[in-house]
Amino acid sequence: MSRPLLQQCDEVLVIGCGLMGAGIAQVVAQAGFNVIVVDRTEEDLIRGKDQIEKALTKQGNVDQENIKKRITFTTRIIDGKNANLAIEAIPEKIDLKKELFVTLDKLLKPEAIIASNTSSLSISAMSSVTKRPEQVIGLHFFSPVPIMQLLEIVVSINTSKDVVESAKAFGEKLGKKTIIAKDYPGFIVNRVLVPMLNEAAFLVMEGNDPYEIDRGMMLGANHPIGPLKLTDMVGVDVVLYTLQSLYEGFDDSKYRPCPLLKRMVEAGHLGKKNGKGFYEYK
Ligand code: NAI
Repeated sequence: MSRPLLQQCDEVLVIGCGLMGAGIAQVVAQAGFNVIVVDRTEEDLIRGKDQIEKALTKQGNVDQENIKKRITFTTRIIDGKNANLAIEAIPEKIDLKKELFVTLDKLLKPEAIIASNTSSLSISAMSSVTKRPEQVIGLHFFSPVPIMQLLEIVVSINTSKDVVESAKAFGEKLGKKTIIAKDYPGFIVNRVLVPMLNEAAFLVMEGNDPYEIDRGMMLGANHPIGPLKLTDMVGVDVVLYTLQSLYEGFDDSKYRPCPLLKRMVEAGHLGKKNGKGFYEYK
């Protein structure tokens, strides 16, 4: 039986110090928890540390020194053995994640909760390799983690009710708004959002101008950003990958990825991150 994760003395282990892991470590430390963040090499940790420093500097009026003091960067996962909660943010590969869940299950105390930040993989599959499947949950943060308000809590068919309550309390402690999603591909947000991005790509393939489509959705549907600009921001490759997971996960042709997205990825037009997607970026 777990208890609410509200005590500030609690330790949180974050595995992976990439884009998401570093962001998660930052917001967890900002909420007053002690954080142990693990990655494979010192270089990975330095890159994550840089990301956190830049984000804190940008935020301005925060107690940077104390927040940084609460984060321990390490390459040894064993340093996180006392954590009450582990959140993994390693690459989106089920075999890698399962291997890590086996390690975490052996390492952590029996009452600890193990969470995944996966954007598309099955939480049930990850829980099944542990001896504590009812204490495994999805904590799906959005990028950039310190800025985006939402935390999508993904509940597998194994997750217990009190673990869901602990996760909600934890999310609120981080200053996030939480929603509860069932463990099916795309959860809630990507399930609704990504097919719309796909449809916008089909419109471009049929000869429509990206600028017109984006203006249409902003002015006619009151969206703050057009679907094609958003695809460029998320990454054309990431959108394609998520569509493929929906397509395979539901075995349903309504999620068939637009061939233009495939061509763009093949051509290296990945969006804002490499300067060219539906728009060009200098
Ligand atoms: P990333 O590639 O930036 O970071 C992954 C990090 O994990 C790397 O630093 C890598 O060295 C490290 N790593 C790999 N294997 C490891 C291991 N066994 N132990 C410790 N560290 C290890 O990836 P990113 O974008 O941060 O994504 C991480 C997870 O978050 C994925 O599951 C992804 O689907 C999910 N996600 C990503 C979002 C995004 O916008 N990038 C949004 C929401 C979720």
